[in-house]
Amino acid sequence: MDPTKLLEADHRQVEDLFDQIEKAEGDERMPLIRELETALRAHMQLEEEVLYPRVTAVTGDDQVQEAETEHELARKMMADMIALAPDEPGFDGALEAFKAGIEHHVEEEEGEMFPQLRSEGAQVLAEIATPFMQKRVELGLPMDAAALAAASTKEELLEEAKNAGVEGTSSMTKEQLAEALAGVMA
Ligand SMILES: [Fe+2]
Ligand SMILES: [Fe+2]
Repeated sequence: MDPTKLLEADHRQVEDLFDQIEKAEGDERMPLIRELETALRAHMQLEEEVLYPRVTAVTGDDQVQEAETEHELARKMMADMIALAPDEPGFDGALEAFKAGIEHHVEEEEGEMFPQLRSEGAQVLAEIATPFMQKRVELGLPMDAAALAAASTKEELLEEAKNAGVEGTSSMTKEQLAEALAGVMA
């Protein structure tokens, strides 16, 4: 199981929400902004509590410190944006600044940190898999079947599904296992 694959699925969800906010108008924007805030806060907390503390051993302190600083900046830019009503002057500028900050951070995670973890930190990724999944459930982050299938081998899904009390696992395909597991963890 590779937790970074699920984090990448979170990033796609956040990008999709930014798109929706940009296309929406006036009052339609508020529920989307709230959804973005909830998703991002949970995602950052998951990375900070479960992933980053274990990453330093693989990438060194600098990359993790930079990532944590970028999370703090993201929280600040998000608060600045939320402080403005969507129809207030300056909102679009605050939204674009916030989005650019997130894009930069996601690029660094997906372009540097995650690839380095996959090539040099397989052991760390394996060790954090279980606490990572528990924390996701606790934080209410989505358990997407397709992302789960992409992040895991069939054997890993089989094991997790059995542990979660799913029945009839022996005749299931990898996709069916991911669906069943996503169902019980949601
Ligand atoms: Fe991330
Ligand atoms: Fe991050």
